[in-house]
Amino acid sequence: MLKVLTIDGPSGSGKGTVAKILSQKLGWELLDSGALYRLVAFGALKHGIELDDVDKLAELALTLDVEFKLEEGNELLVPVFEGENVASQIRTEKCGDAASKVAALTPVRDALLDRQRAFATEQGLIADGRDMGTVVFPSAPVKVYLSASAEERAERRYNQLKASGESVSIAAILDEIKARDDRDMNRSVAPLKPANDAIEIDSTHLSIDEVVSQISDALSEVG
Ligand code: C5P
Repeated sequence: MLKVLTIDGPSGSGKGTVAKILSQKLGWELLDSGALYRLVAFGALKHGIELDDVDKLAELALTLDVEFKLEEGNELLVPVFEGENVASQIRTEKCGDAASKVAALTPVRDALLDRQRAFATEQGLIADGRDMGTVVFPSAPVKVYLSASAEERAERRYNQLKASGESVSIAAILDEIKARDDRDMNRSVAPLKPANDAIEIDSTHLSIDEVVSQISDALSEVG
């Protein structure tokens, strides 16, 4: 049986955090598929490729010069793009926004498909994103769809940015989150939606630990 746990959901639902905790707890590999779309967007911005130049973007996605490396003192993988550690550069709002634009293009998604599937190992994989359970790993035995209200997600993002010293308005963050949801949920290719066999968890009023424990229970049920 394919040992893959998929966690899909909108941005800010906590899926990245939950995936990291579970991967450390279980010793499974991690695929942050959003990072791949962010890297395509980052590469396009770096090389002056227009975000609607489908052919060049698909070529970039196919030949993406990226490695995920374990950095000393950091138990998580960092993306090294064209020889440069770009972990923080791909996390900006600009890059996230550009990522959701390139992610709406079918040739870009097709170009990333095999690369994503290659992350599956016998040891086990936790894959987080928007279409992990619906498109990339449709036969995963446990699929989770993690959501939270847009207001709650905006507040979490606001607190994160405030803690890192950035001054931002919560209203602007909420608008950005709603625009990104709209684009991700209403695109024609691989729209964000729960797989038919996904366990749906609304984390609006749950702590990270509570979400982790619900998913751990679901995993132990399938053995
Ligand atoms: O999850 P993250 O915010 O890093 O993803 C950035 C963007 O990449 C998302 O807004 C979404 O448009 C896109 N994405 C996707 N499919 C995935 C993961 C991310 O379309 N599996």
